[in-house]
Amino acid sequence: MKGLEISVDVFDSIVLGTATIKNRFARSATWEGMATLQGAVTPELTRLMKALAEGGTGLLFSSHAYVRKDGQASLKQLGIYDDDLLPGLKEMCDVIHAGGAKVFAQLAHGGANASRALSGFDPVAPSPAENAKGELSRVMSEEDIAVLTQDFAKAADRAVKAGFDGVQIHAAHAYCLGEFLSPYYNKRSDRYGGSVENRARALIEVYRAVREVVGKGYPVTAKINSEDFIEGGLTPSMMVETSALMENEGLDGMEVSGGGGPAARYSSHRPGDLETPDEEAYYRDAARLYKAHVKKMPLILVGGIRSLETSRKILREGLADMISLARPLIREPGLVKRWAEGDQRRAACVSCESCTAAAVAGKGLQCVLE
Ligand SMILES: Cc1cc2nc3c(=O)[nH]c(=O)nc-3n(C[C@H](O)[C@H](O)[C@H](O)COP(=O)(O)O)c2cc1C
Repeated sequence: MKGLEISVDVFDSIVLGTATIKNRFARSATWEGMATLQGAVTPELTRLMKALAEGGTGLLFSSHAYVRKDGQASLKQLGIYDDDLLPGLKEMCDVIHAGGAKVFAQLAHGGANASRALSGFDPVAPSPAENAKGELSRVMSEEDIAVLTQDFAKAADRAVKAGFDGVQIHAAHAYCLGEFLSPYYNKRSDRYGGSVENRARALIEVYRAVREVVGKGYPVTAKINSEDFIEGGLTPSMMVETSALMENEGLDGMEVSGGGGPAARYSSHRPGDLETPDEEAYYRDAARLYKAHVKKMPLILVGGIRSLETSRKILREGLADMISLARPLIREPGLVKRWAEGDQRRAACVSCESCTAAAVAGKGLQCVLE
């Protein structure tokens, strides 16, 4: 006799930690270039988050928020490094909740890819590396790592105080914790370098310090690369090994991405339209590998997903538990609502990267296409 097949749908809810997300769609963390030069929330940023919340996406990840000043990587980037930033963050969370969505703060340090020109501080990293501006990072001592770990924990405490429903530790895209994971960026010979376990130590210590502060149940997730797309960089099997370690630690969900940093063949946001379902979902194979080995910790899949059809297929095939979108929601903050209401045409985004160019030019993240 054939067993009853229970198939999961994109409009089903999901629980991460103790947070119930109303559907399987997330807005992947997306730097908006809309904070003040000091990293404070602005009315412009709050308006964007309101539109995203009202647009039907169940979970919004904030843009990468720097946990201390020398971690700033982008112009007008959101900060979470000081209690003075709390009122703006709180107002933003309130607006998102009123719009019907949950919000997790993405906690970040730019590592070698932080910017001295922006922060006024030398970038710090597991091993020396040059960022896109040619700035060479200072190597972190074990004491520096312990201090950074506490800075992540303090930022997580601020996230709780501001009303975020959870946090995401940014360990992807060649930023600090992603650099620790990567054999290309991490050349250390101490207990933070070498084996996968050693390279994951910084992330694990940050996770434990964050958990200590936020308590049991509060959703703590992370974002990592499936692959660095660099000769000698992180591979999908290393991603799976790291994810299994994090599952053992009790992490509530892993978002899987890829690429980033000046040495990578691909940015995390590749240009190029994805016209057919087969071209979508850059990290489909890595997701399959993850699911073969990591049995409990939910997988949030990001990267080149553009249609409802593909989103549904990924969930039904058990390749992921949530679908995460960045650029499609820049063009259409109401995309998920549109799909839910029956207009199921693919996202209008053509991955042209004009949105990124607008943010880099200091104009704030926006789709400039007609
Ligand atoms: C303008 C822009 C800013 C981004 N900022 C972040 C960020 O702050 N944190 C992060 O983890 N990823 C960031 N990303 C990467 C996205 O979260 C996502 O992984 C990537 O764009 C692939 O998804 P997509 O094809 O749906 O756009 C950014 C992408 C873009 C286009």
